[in-house]
Amino acid sequence: MEYKEFLKTTLPHLGLRWRRFRSKSIRKRIIGRLNELGLHSFSQYQSYILKKEEERWFLTGLLTVTISRFWRNARLFQALENTWLPAVLGRTSENEPLKIWSAGCASGEEPYSLLILWLESFAGSGRELRLLASDSDSHCLERAQQGLYSASSFREMPLHLRQKYFTNEKGTFFLRHDLTQRIEWFEHNLIWEAPPSNNNIIFCRNLVYTYFMDELQKEITRRFHQALVPKGLLVVGRKDRLPYGTEGLFRLVDHPLYERIDSPETI
Ligand SMILES: C[S@@+](CC[C@H](N)C(=O)[O-])C[C@H]1O[C@@H](n2cnc3c(N)ncnc32)[C@H](O)[C@@H]1O
Repeated sequence: MEYKEFLKTTLPHLGLRWRRFRSKSIRKRIIGRLNELGLHSFSQYQSYILKKEEERWFLTGLLTVTISRFWRNARLFQALENTWLPAVLGRTSENEPLKIWSAGCASGEEPYSLLILWLESFAGSGRELRLLASDSDSHCLERAQQGLYSASSFREMPLHLRQKYFTNEKGTFFLRHDLTQRIEWFEHNLIWEAPPSNNNIIFCRNLVYTYFMDELQKEITRRFHQALVPKGLLVVGRKDRLPYGTEGLFRLVDHPLYERIDSPETI
């Protein structure tokens, strides 16, 4: 069995789009895994995967990229600051905290960016922020709570913010320690776990709508719809789109932001 055939016939069992994984570096990772297991061909590895559920989860982890960066898609952060966070605050009761969930948060770059944006522009509003961040990979969550980053993570973040919130020690950037505790971290797998409820905004960027197959995307989109408050926002990656068949659940308001639709059929 050739590599392409292996991807085409195996990845649908994991709910993943096989075309995303054709690169040489991923092929190398999979061959490394075959060697670790003492297997000699892609077809042997496929039979092994189909028999062992743990191996399916292991392979999913091996395939998914965990790279992220602060202020990823800087234009989006500008739109959040100028338009969307004020809009969401405007339609939330003053006594309620704003609840934001970063799903698939990698090593924390996304939730910390949101926290810093909040501290810079909204902390003086007297409103409270509840920020949740989850990932299926416990190592990512550990790294997130350590708050140590290399210079490449800051490509898109305004320099004055990096200087204000991080200390540079020989090229490693340390996040101000008190910030790690402002976020509720938890391990969560989007494929089979129910999301936290009553979110005002859900961020799910460069994961579900990048790697997962359409059916799984639709199922998770339905769960996101239920997990948002009326008119809540779902924010996806710059190149992500919601799949066909979810038009009744979300409307695109300002790419990559979608707003929950609350028609009688969907609530
Ligand atoms: C490419 S990173 C995206 C990080 C961030 N959202 C961003 O856009 O910069 C994808 C993250 O999704 C996580 N992930 C992969 N499969 C997942 C799953 N089934 N449930 C939750 N997180 C998952 C990976 O561990 C990784 O940290």
